[in-house]
Amino acid sequence: MLDRYVSKTSKSKQMHKKAKRVLPSGVSYFLRYFDPYPFYAATAKGSKIVDVDGNDYIDFWLGHYALILGHSPPEIVNAVRQQIENGTHYGTCHELEIILAEQVVKMIPSAEMIRFTNSGTEAAMYATRLARTYTNREKIVKLEGGWHGGYDALHIAVSPPLDVPQSNGIMTGAQEDTIVIPFNDLEEVRKKLKKDNIAAIIVEPVLGAGGGIPADKEFLKGLRELCSEKGALLIFDEIITGFRLAPGGAQQYYGILPDITVLGKIMGGGFPIGVIASRREIMEHMDPLLYERPEFSFHGGTFCGNPVSLTAGLTTLKLLEDGHLLNQLNRQGDKIRQQLYDIFEKGNIDVYITGVSSIFQTHFTREEVRDVRSAFQADRTKLTDYHMYLIANGVFFLPTKIGVLSRAHTKEDLNKILLETENYVKKSQANL
Ligand SMILES: Cc1ncc(COP(=O)(O)O)c(C=O)c1O
Repeated sequence: MLDRYVSKTSKSKQMHKKAKRVLPSGVSYFLRYFDPYPFYAATAKGSKIVDVDGNDYIDFWLGHYALILGHSPPEIVNAVRQQIENGTHYGTCHELEIILAEQVVKMIPSAEMIRFTNSGTEAAMYATRLARTYTNREKIVKLEGGWHGGYDALHIAVSPPLDVPQSNGIMTGAQEDTIVIPFNDLEEVRKKLKKDNIAAIIVEPVLGAGGGIPADKEFLKGLRELCSEKGALLIFDEIITGFRLAPGGAQQYYGILPDITVLGKIMGGGFPIGVIASRREIMEHMDPLLYERPEFSFHGGTFCGNPVSLTAGLTTLKLLEDGHLLNQLNRQGDKIRQQLYDIFEKGNIDVYITGVSSIFQTHFTREEVRDVRSAFQADRTKLTDYHMYLIANGVFFLPTKIGVLSRAHTKEDLNKILLETENYVKKSQANL
């Protein structure tokens, strides 16, 4: 199957060779690399991405799950085109900041005020700082398998081996002040945090990089109670779940309110963005007119509130606000998880399908997958093999990563993934 991929992607192969001379591993983000080399995109529209060799792929990766309306949807293209004529980057205050902030406050149940950043990483970083400021405490608690971007304090215990730093250069202090707790195991969490005076717990309501694994409602409820008991803040990283599980994100879906929410991806309508959202009394610590140093919590950056991102974001949120599309995608998600499971089961291949809403992931294992440890105990070589088979046959998942649905996916697109999965199962059986 790699042969088939290689035979179809000679221009990508050449490009990757060239890219390696000027970009480490030939890519802008190692996450995007896969063996033997990634294809290079030429264009993308709707549910499809076309590579430089002219192959098209039905895209379930969708720009790191940012594109809930698919690639270049007409509403976004029109809004952005108009905005670009009126200015690409003011670097001053402008009305769209207020309009989009009001829209987020309207949609996200726990939000009273927000601030814009340029990425999810930045939003998580400033949210962490804000929590430390507000509580006057240092220690941050994160979950095993939780991915919040590359900020030192949070770039810990994302993937096994969980006790080996994810990168060199992470400050020792950050490692010491971050406490890692297991996902979906409240009893262990309570034991582990018994003595600590913590500033915040940051959690993805659905582990993304950790395997597309939803938290149990009781687990999130337990974290909420624990934070309230300890005077700590609960931070929901809703960078994947925000505007996907429900118009008000996972907090609406689960009915559990965090103190701080971080958002990104879908929120930017295909352009860079991040958001920190919280109650007024917490957010106001970012206002140096109210809180002088050392009580002030800084946030900012050149492109914060960029009007192109904000226009695209506002257009997207307006389309998601009534919940109609999200309900439809959620139903399709339930269906595709069941259909994929049935195909593998019929072929006598052990799988555990995780996900919720329009998020889905296949794990080759007969065990239940409830956390990053069980997700990584599944057969990941087989998962890569499956995803590479799909890629070679025109269906794109970033190998080993979760897939998501979008408004742009047609019935034919969804049938294609089922058909290619059936073919993969047949091929696996023939190889036995
Ligand atoms: C849950 C979650 N948090 C944070 C981030 C980091 O966001 P960004 O890549 O925009 O910096 C991501 C990105 O994948 C994410 O999935």
